[in-house]
Formats: sequence, structure tokens, C-alpha cells
Amino acid sequence: MDVTQARNAGGHEQALDLARGIAAYIDHPLVAGLARVIAKHPTADIANAFNHKQVACKMWALDELFESCGGRFGRIWVLGGWYGVLPAMLFNDARFDIAAIDSIDVDPEVGPVARTLNREAGDRFQALTEDMYALDYAAGRPDLVINTSCEHIADLRAWLALVPRGANVLLQSNDYFSEPTHINCVVSLAAFEAMAALREIRFSGELPTKKYTRFMLIGTV
Ligand SMILES: C[S@@+](CC[C@H](N)C(=O)[O-])C[C@H]1O[C@@H](n2cnc3c(N)ncnc32)[C@H](O)[C@@H]1O
Repeated sequence: MDVTQARNAGGHEQALDLARGIAAYIDHPLVAGLARVIAKHPTADIANAFNHKQVACKMWALDELFESCGGRFGRIWVLGGWYGVLPAMLFNDARFDIAAIDSIDVDPEVGPVARTLNREAGDRFQALTEDMYALDYAAGRPDLVINTSCEHIADLRAWLALVPRGANVLLQSNDYFSEPTHINCVVSLAAFEAMAALREIRFSGELPTKKYTRFMLIGTV
């Protein structure tokens, strides 16, 4: 083991100790899930997925979703779902009563981590490895389609064209152009509205953070 590997291993041990300590202290299923992820998937980038900015953007999504659509849903599809942080937050929010959430991501490495994080949801949670452009949305008939990864997909209009007319969607994008994996950022909320061209908008807003602004639309296709 070289010096960098030893340092990384030490950092992982510290993160695991801290997460387990916090989980013991606050006894919360989501925090217990994070400790499980750190233990079981040491190379997963969960610290990035659960950093304070990511969490703030998702808390904002939950607040505005509840305000505009209420808390009762049958099946929700989360596209570009990554490690399943948003489903975990939805399942652990007392305002929401959700029958099932599917987290769908093209990367085969993220599903096992999402399942570990959402283990306590049992069969109400599924993580699927699929390309969001290849799904049959009409057959799946989700009550709500969430995509907080719009900056990661090349053609937002082409993807939204696959979603049946009248379907409820929650979309987030941002103006964080300098991040290399962001292939489709937007310069403003107006540009995001124009790109999405939703038939009905129930919420449209922006959340400034230190390095970028996040944009969100809730409405129907
Ligand atoms: C970095 S993550 C999510 C960042 C975002 N800010 C969030 O937390 O919602 C973006 C995810 O989109 C996924 N993704 C990109 N293109 C996709 C596609 N065509 N179908 C499904 N998932 C996709 C990537 O694999 C990745 O896990």
C-alpha cells in the first residue's frame, strides 16, 4: 500500500466511523443507509451525492413538490437516479405517502449502491439499469417522472417527447457549465422553461448556490 492508498483507506475508515456514530446517535433510516453504503461500497462517490448542496437542492424539490402536487403518489420514476438519494429522502419524509419509487440510471455501478441506501423501503424501491431514452413511459404509467439530472442528458426535448402528454414531471438543471460531465446546462430559468416547453407549469424557480444556480420546473408534459 502506497502513501495515497493508506491516506484514502484512513479517510474511508474515518468516514465510516463518523457515519456509524451519527447513525447511532440520531437513529434515522436515511443516516443508517448512508453508513451502510460507506461500509459496503467504499469506492462509491456518496459524499458527492450527499453533499450539502445536493441535499439542499433535493430538499427544495421535496418542498415544492409537496406544495404543488401534494404528498400522495402511486409509482414515481426517478431518471438519472444515481445512488438513490432522492428516493431515500422521499421515503423518509412524513409528508409523503408513496407506493413505489423506481430509480433508473444508465450506469450499472450505481444500482447496487441505491439498493443499499434504500434497503429499508423493501420492495417499494427498485433500482434499474436502463437508458432513459429507451424506456416505455406509456406502458410504465408512472404518476410522476423526476429528472434532476437534465444537465447530464444531451437532448432534453427528445427525452420529454417520449413522456406521454399530460404526465407530471419535476425537472432540475443548472448553469454549472465548468463541470465536464454537464453536457446540457442552461443559462437561465427562462432558457430552461423554453427548452422544456411544458404544457402546464405549476412551479418554476431557481436556487442560487455558491458556484452555480439550480433551476426547477414542476408541471405537465
Ligand atoms: C451525476 S448524477 C446526478 C446529478 C444531479 N445533480 C442529481 O443529483 O440529481 C447524473 C446521473 O445521470 C445518469 N445518466 C446520464 N445519462 C443517462 C441516461 N441517458 N439514462 C439514464 N441515466 C443517465 C448518470 O449515469 C448519472 O448517474
